[in-house]
Amino acid sequence: MQEHYLLDLDLRRIPALAPDVLILGSGIAAISAALVAAEDASVLLVTKGGQQESNTYYAQGGIAAALAPGDSPEAHLHDTLVAGAGLCDEAAVRKLVTEGPARVNELIRWGTPFDRKDDQLSMTLEGGHGQRRVLHANGDATGKVIESSLTSRIKDHPNVTVLEDHFAVDLLHHQGVCYGCVALDAKGGRFLKIESKATILATGGLGQIYRETTNPDVTTGDGIAMAFRAGATVQDMEFVQFHPTTLYIAGAKRFLISEAVRGEGAHLLNRKGERFMQKYDERGELAPRDVVSRAIFLEMINNGSTNVFLSLAHVDPKLVEERFPTIRKTLKQYGLDLAKDRIPVRPACHYTMGGVRTDLAARSDVERLLAAGEVASCGVHGANRLASNSLLDGLVFGHEAGQMARKLASGSQPTFPLKRVRPVREKETIPIDVDDVRASLKSLINRAAGIVREAEPMANAIQMLDFWQKYVYAEEFQSVKGLELQNMLACAQLVVRGAQTREESRGAHQRLDFPETDDVKWKRHVTLNRKEFE
Ligand code: FAD
Ligand code: SIN
Repeated sequence: MQEHYLLDLDLRRIPALAPDVLILGSGIAAISAALVAAEDASVLLVTKGGQQESNTYYAQGGIAAALAPGDSPEAHLHDTLVAGAGLCDEAAVRKLVTEGPARVNELIRWGTPFDRKDDQLSMTLEGGHGQRRVLHANGDATGKVIESSLTSRIKDHPNVTVLEDHFAVDLLHHQGVCYGCVALDAKGGRFLKIESKATILATGGLGQIYRETTNPDVTTGDGIAMAFRAGATVQDMEFVQFHPTTLYIAGAKRFLISEAVRGEGAHLLNRKGERFMQKYDERGELAPRDVVSRAIFLEMINNGSTNVFLSLAHVDPKLVEERFPTIRKTLKQYGLDLAKDRIPVRPACHYTMGGVRTDLAARSDVERLLAAGEVASCGVHGANRLASNSLLDGLVFGHEAGQMARKLASGSQPTFPLKRVRPVREKETIPIDVDDVRASLKSLINRAAGIVREAEPMANAIQMLDFWQKYVYAEEFQSVKGLELQNMLACAQLVVRGAQTREESRGAHQRLDFPETDDVKWKRHVTLNRKEFE
């Protein structure tokens, strides 16, 4: 945990770029920020894979906004606060739900084709929402449609340049100020120094530190780890959301089966074919996600099974066909019919509630470093995110980050004062099987920081992580995989340390040894800063 930089680089020897605003990532938060900042600043978007490769692209269910007749931001606020289990920051949620409708209307004005019925926007229901307020596109391909719409908006924009296949390695930072980043050209193998007046982190969450996850391969927590190394405070790292229904077939990718499937009436059945959710919560299949995931977990333990089932057999097959084309197509590959068959599912890591602590203007506590979307934590999701609130979070706070970056861009460009960036350790090189450590790390975190947590396994996990870190951090990796592994180790430490600290159960964080919610001691955020580890 002592590293300030992963690599010892001589910055005089590498090519340099100097946009006004540097944005890391290319999901909904990044592009929303870019579109605002680019109104009067030059913007460089750096993304580690292809432009569309992001969690945003895979979003299924939809985007929540109080746009339906009879709905209101106040009702959306209420549902978000209830799901957040006492830990949401109300001002942040208020901003989300009141500005959200305007941002979504902007998407619509830009031509995003949300699904409609009789010319009215179609809305679905998801867990924790008191009414239908989730807009969707192309049935269950909401993320793909939004990402395409945003991407076409920045394509050919005179003030926006996109650098694909460039991996941000570290933020350039000195004495609490951020000056940009160092990036690795993943295909060419060269490093690049990028100096900017404002840097926006929009690098998404850390789902890949878990063996069972719905998140794509790019989601390795790089932004959280980078910001932490640069001295930013992170918060709520123990709150990792498990999505209740991920396809569970040996050999198949852990493909998400949208919560909207339950919103349209699907039942959850145990191995005996019995519905069980009512035993756990009167809201049944549409209780908030943390409640449903825990209920499935208990049902699997009590029945000695590896999964439960989703069933839509009682729902109109036409509706199933129309609403869930992507899910149907995927299931068909495994010989399953969504409209008829029982679909084997179990919970998997899905969303990072914690992250880089930001204020309502997307500022971290490192000067000139902003953060928005899943990488950030401004308190909007509390201990458990309400379904379909995260695309909205990316839109609203991405926009905010863009505004703040614009302000910073109107000033002069600060010059990074150091010629080299140096790690504070001795260098040595030993052979490391990166894939092997990555797989072991993912299994360890699944066990130690999963749906339920307990002191002893977490203490053992920290010992193991410390051990791996000693030799993995000693390496100066020139490959994306190696650098990602270092970031994953850092994030795993932060999740487990957060979970060890919080000696209570709340929302997505459940401790077997502290089963009660303790508002007196723990109705607060757990924050972590590098200084505490040194
Ligand atoms: P992302 O969209 O994850 O983008 C992060 C970007 O950063 C990527 O482009 C990545 O390549 C880039 N990046 C990461 N590290 C680096 C680095 N070191 N250097 C350069 N670039 C980097 N939410 C909803 O509200 N509704 C839904 O229906 C929904 N469905 C979902 C379904 C699935 C399967 C998944 C996985 C998530 C879903 N979510 C949903 C959650 C939601 O998609 C995400 O929270 C949201 O898209 C995050 O947006 P973002 O812009 O913060 O990050
Ligand atoms: C889903 O479609 O179930 C995912 C929705 C979300 O993560 O908000």
